[in-house]
Amino acid sequence: MALFNLKINNKSFSVEADPDSPILWVLRDQLNLMGTKYGCGIGQCGACTIHVDGNAFRSCMLQVSQASGMNITTIEGLSEEGDHPVQKAWLEHDVPQCGYCQSGQIMSAAALLKHTPNPTDEDIDGAMHGNICRCGTYTRIKQAIKTASKI
Ligand code: FES
Ligand code: FES
Repeated sequence: MALFNLKINNKSFSVEADPDSPILWVLRDQLNLMGTKYGCGIGQCGACTIHVDGNAFRSCMLQVSQASGMNITTIEGLSEEGDHPVQKAWLEHDVPQCGYCQSGQIMSAAALLKHTPNPTDEDIDGAMHGNICRCGTYTRIKQAIKTASKI
């Protein structure tokens, strides 16, 4: 175990953890940030997506020792009032079904729009293809990203 200083959602935290532990477990089990979900644990589903220095990143693949000094944002820190343009568009299109994958979907979509404010269909497919939705909400996700790009 070792002590790590983490910057998460614009707050500083000191946590004691195994250096090899994925940051996903620190977020969920130590900091009670439960919006970031565990799906596969091997970087293949996107349910655990967070932002690391503004880029979408799979938190199951980031060791806590690597995360020190980085700016980490989880779904809880994406906006003050749940009013990020992507969140507004998600509501407008009633995107979620069971909801399990959706925080990861929203974080990937928000990172896409940050870097590509007016994405093409290909841009959206490229950014979102690693986010799996077992409920098949892909059509609404794409529509919502287009709406969010106009907000
Ligand atoms: S839990 Fe991290 S990509 Fe699936
Ligand atoms: S809404 Fe159920 S897995 Fe995506």
